[in-house]
Amino acid sequence: MLKKYIIANWKMNLNLAETLSLAKKFKEKFAGFNQGEVVVCPSTLFLIEVNEILKGSIIKLGAQNVFWEEVGASYTGEVSPEMLAEAGCRYVILGHSERRKYLSENYEIINKKVRAVVKNEKLIPIVCIGESLKERKTDRRDFVLVEQLEQALSGIEVFGDQRIIIAYEPIWAIGTSTALEPAEAEYAHKIIKLALNDIVGMQAVSKNFSVIYGGSINSKNVKSFANLEDIDGLLVGGASLKIEEFYKVAKSIVK
Ligand code: PGA
Repeated sequence: MLKKYIIANWKMNLNLAETLSLAKKFKEKFAGFNQGEVVVCPSTLFLIEVNEILKGSIIKLGAQNVFWEEVGASYTGEVSPEMLAEAGCRYVILGHSERRKYLSENYEIINKKVRAVVKNEKLIPIVCIGESLKERKTDRRDFVLVEQLEQALSGIEVFGDQRIIIAYEPIWAIGTSTALEPAEAEYAHKIIKLALNDIVGMQAVSKNFSVIYGGSINSKNVKSFANLEDIDGLLVGGASLKIEEFYKVAKSIVK
């Protein structure tokens, strides 16, 4: 059985002292866990220090973004997959809707990033997809999800044990107090898995892919998402910034 994921996305929220303090709390709280994968994604700037804290714990480190080239004099300000791996990262979030909105990332860019990360082999990509409110209202969601997947995964060859996580995050449900109706999330996850079957083949989907949900998950609504058949885990923003709240969320998914 594939392991379930619980991924904390701290976004640009915490300063250094707050980041290190929360990382220590995560380490203590999840000491006894051994089923499932707990991942924490702090600011790029603090990755190395968080990695030091997490040493000896089951919690894995993730980054919130990466550049698509490994090295080069032309990429001022960017961070490569290898640099993230050196900092101790095992995971990296790609194409988060906030980057699509504020930094004009599109699926051509996201595809370059997915290719670079898959090629690097040390990192597992968490590829974000999800429709806007307008697309949802005009019944274009299924089409949008399939198109985003096709573009993000174009030219990707998955082999061996390479893992790829797809995070379904309906844009309108991120950072609000309203998560999706669980049944709707389950339906969207079915669509995503069917589309993946077409793109990479059924065998690769069951062996190499996980599909997780993200968007306003908290300790109150998590139970209705935890046991849905096609949901392989959760990506959590706001509720990952307080240890007790995140712990309650995580306990419904991993042990
Ligand atoms: P949220 O964020 O849980 O605060 O809605 C999720 C995300 O953006 O990954």
